[in-house]
Amino acid sequence: MTRKAFVIGHPIGHSRSPLIHRHWLDAYGIDGSYEAIEVTPDDLPAFFARLRTGEFAGGNVTVPHKERAFELCDVLDPETAHLRAVNTIELLPGGEGFLLHGSNTDFYGFVANLDQQAPGWSGGVQSAIVLGAGGAARAVAASLAANGIERTFILNRTPERAGQLARELGGPLQGSGLADWPLLAPTTQLVVNTTTVGMGNTGFERLDLTLLPAETLVTDIVYTPLQTPLLVAARARGLRTVDGLGMLLHQAVPGFEKWFGVRPEVTAELRQEIERTLAP
Ligand code: ATR
Repeated sequence: MTRKAFVIGHPIGHSRSPLIHRHWLDAYGIDGSYEAIEVTPDDLPAFFARLRTGEFAGGNVTVPHKERAFELCDVLDPETAHLRAVNTIELLPGGEGFLLHGSNTDFYGFVANLDQQAPGWSGGVQSAIVLGAGGAARAVAASLAANGIERTFILNRTPERAGQLARELGGPLQGSGLADWPLLAPTTQLVVNTTTVGMGNTGFERLDLTLLPAETLVTDIVYTPLQTPLLVAARARGLRTVDGLGMLLHQAVPGFEKWFGVRPEVTAELRQEIERTLAP
């Protein structure tokens, strides 16, 4: 029987997830499907009721449903439940029907991308800056703390949100405004942009990259375009950079394994296939 998976979002039209999963289904010769389904916030409870029939092995949840999906799942992955956002669902047989198991693989994808593109990345990092305090910042800041980074400053346009996120997650995190950049940049070895700045070639107004030490690694989770103005500026300054496409590819790995039983590989071939669909 064909095993079915899905990605839901609103809008869902531009999601690259179907391309990624279909690439792997073909590569491993698996009898499976992965479809993008447009689901509005109003329709989300009905979609979750449909899931409980067992029609799908599982699927992905993207913007704007991750927080609501967290609330609607029956069982949560203990390692990522503190993120209060679910992007991967697996249907588990239980009781009379099926139980919804929710996890967050953005957390894993962020680190797996750095491990692949910048091996040993966490080695010399004593202090990191996370730009942004939204859902993506939550996963990134938590994974930095989980990877032993001693100090992470969350800097956000709205400083209150950064402070709140740091307090909620606890650990070696502090939150403040982007105005603190000049103070913190000179002692930072890792910068992660988790804001939407970069999309459509937008840039930060005031972020002086010349203040960063020469060994600093700059990474962006935005991948449209692949070379965001932040990464272009960092490279011009001679800094190491890692783009955001790898996080998208790696976050898909645990879901595919859950639904289709094979742990897929993020290969150069897959990367090229998805890269061809992105703006230069
Ligand atoms: P996500 O869940 O994808 O992280 P989000 O919760 O909407 O999305 O968060 C978007 C992030 O981008 C926020 O940190 C936002 O800053 P505010 O909290 O001040 O809104 C940040 N952001 C968006 N546009 C920005 C801009 N022009 N300059 C700086 N930060 C921006």
